[in-house]
Amino acid sequence: MEELKTQNAEVQYIELEKMTINSCKECYICQDTAGVYGCVQKDDMTEIAEKILWADAIILATPIFAWYCTSKMKAVLDRHYGFNKYYGSAGGCLWEGKKVGIIATHGYEGDYATEPFEVGVKRLCTHSNLKYVGMYSVQDNDNLASFQTSEAVEGAKAFARKVIREVM
Ligand SMILES: Cc1cc2nc3c(=O)[nH]c(=O)nc-3n(C[C@H](O)[C@H](O)[C@H](O)COP(=O)(O)O)c2cc1C
Repeated sequence: MEELKTQNAEVQYIELEKMTINSCKECYICQDTAGVYGCVQKDDMTEIAEKILWADAIILATPIFAWYCTSKMKAVLDRHYGFNKYYGSAGGCLWEGKKVGIIATHGYEGDYATEPFEVGVKRLCTHSNLKYVGMYSVQDNDNLASFQTSEAVEGAKAFARKVIREVM
């Protein structure tokens, strides 16, 4: 985030853990609601959807839990239906062309830990006409602050610059 701000990007940080994000109820009402996100559930996803629609790039920052993201982030990803009006009368894709990246920590090594989540996000991007810009991840070796080594901080900053280049 510091590097993004240094590069003059406007950044909004959403701390999902503190928010109420219900699961998708499969009502499909959003599919008949044109031009707006259109979910009937009035929880914190309303604010998250507004911020997603505002952003040029969305960075999914998560520890890997059970080969995927946290449950709160999974609920947000499930609730993407309101952006993709593929299954009803509304039509269109509200978040088309936005860039999506991943920042992750994980206990297991490299690809073994991150591949399932990365594949899922890539497929969601293809399905939604989003541009996947890549992942920066660090293995949490010792339960200390693995993401705060100078190597990890520099890696995260380089990733931030890559995101900026993709958006420009
Ligand atoms: C409930 C739970 C599930 C986890 N599942 C995985 C997993 O599937 N793969 C993995 O590599 N690490 C897994 N881990 C380890 C976490 O990814 C690791 O502790 C975390 O990235 C540390 O980063 P943090 O301190 O930023 O949360 C899991 C940890 C917890 C608590």
